[in-house]
Amino acid sequence: MTLRAENIQLIRSNREILSGVTVDIKPAFVHAVIGPNGAGKSSLLTMLAGEEQPSGGRVELEGICIDQLQPNELAAKRAVMSQSIDVVFDFSVDQILEMGWVHARNWGHSVMIQVIEMCSQVCGIESLRQRNYRTLSGGEQQRVQFCRAMIQIWQPETEAESRYLLLDEPTSSLDVAHELQLLNLLRQSRETTGILIVLHDLNLAAHFADTIYLLHDGRVVARGNPEDVMTSQQLSDVYGTEIEVEERRGRPYIYTH
Ligand SMILES: Nc1ncnc2c1ncn2[C@@H]1O[C@H](COP(=O)(O)OP(=O)(O)OP(=O)(O)O)[C@@H](O)[C@H]1O
Ligand SMILES: [Mg+2]
Repeated sequence: MTLRAENIQLIRSNREILSGVTVDIKPAFVHAVIGPNGAGKSSLLTMLAGEEQPSGGRVELEGICIDQLQPNELAAKRAVMSQSIDVVFDFSVDQILEMGWVHARNWGHSVMIQVIEMCSQVCGIESLRQRNYRTLSGGEQQRVQFCRAMIQIWQPETEAESRYLLLDEPTSSLDVAHELQLLNLLRQSRETTGILIVLHDLNLAAHFADTIYLLHDGRVVARGNPEDVMTSQQLSDVYGTEIEVEERRGRPYIYTH
C-alpha cells in the first residue's frame, strides 16, 4: 500500500526541476516535504497527484502506474490541496464542498448531505457554508479547501481502504489555533491515510511528521525521521543561512539568531 514516485525527473522549459526523486507515501504516516522556495516541492506534489507526467521515472499508486487509472478511480483514492486555488466563479462554500463528493456512484444524495455536515463540523466551517467562497478570507478559504479534500477521501467506518492526501502548504494562511486544529485532524485521520504535507514551518514539520523529505534544487538531499534530517549542518547548508537545532521534548527544535 504505497503511493510511490520513483526516480522522477521533471523538465520544464528546458530546465530540470526535479531529478532522481524517489518518495514513498504510506498510510498511517505523515510525510513532510521541506525545502527552500523553488526547491521543487509543489512540482513533486503535482507528479504524485498524477496531474502531470514526469519526464522520467514513474508514479505508482499501489502498484499501478498512475496514468492507467481512470479519473474517477484516482479521485476517490487521493485528494489534493494545491498551494494556491483560484475560484473564478461565484460558488457558495457548500458548492465547493460538493465538488469533493466523488462518491456518487456508490452513495446517494442523503449520504452526501450527512458527510458534508459531519466534515464541516469537524473542520469548524459550518458557519461559512452559505457564504460566497470568494468573499472569504484567505485562511477561511484554506479551511474550506481542506474540508473539501477530507470529503473527497471520506469512506464509511466499516471500510478501511487506503487513501492518500497531498497537501501543499495547507496552513500558510491559518492562525496558530487553526493550524494546530488542522494538523491534529490530520494525525487523527491518518490511520488509513497516507499524508504528504509541504510545510515551510520547520518546527511544525519536526513536531507532526513521521518522515521528512528535504528537497534542494530538485533533489532529495535527506530523508528519514525528523532527528536525522533536521540537523543544524544540513538545514544551514540547504537554506543558506545559519540554522540552530536543539532537542526539545524528544523532537528537534529549530531556530535562527
Ligand atoms: N513552467 C516552468 N518553466 C520553468 N521553470 C519552472 C516552471 N514551473 C516551475 N518552474 C520552476 O521550478 C522550480 C520549482 O518550482 P516549485 O513550484 O515546485 O517550487 P516550490 O519548492 O514549491 O517553491 P515554493 O516554496 O516557493 O512554493 C522553481 O524554480 C520554479 O521557478
Ligand atoms: Mg510550492
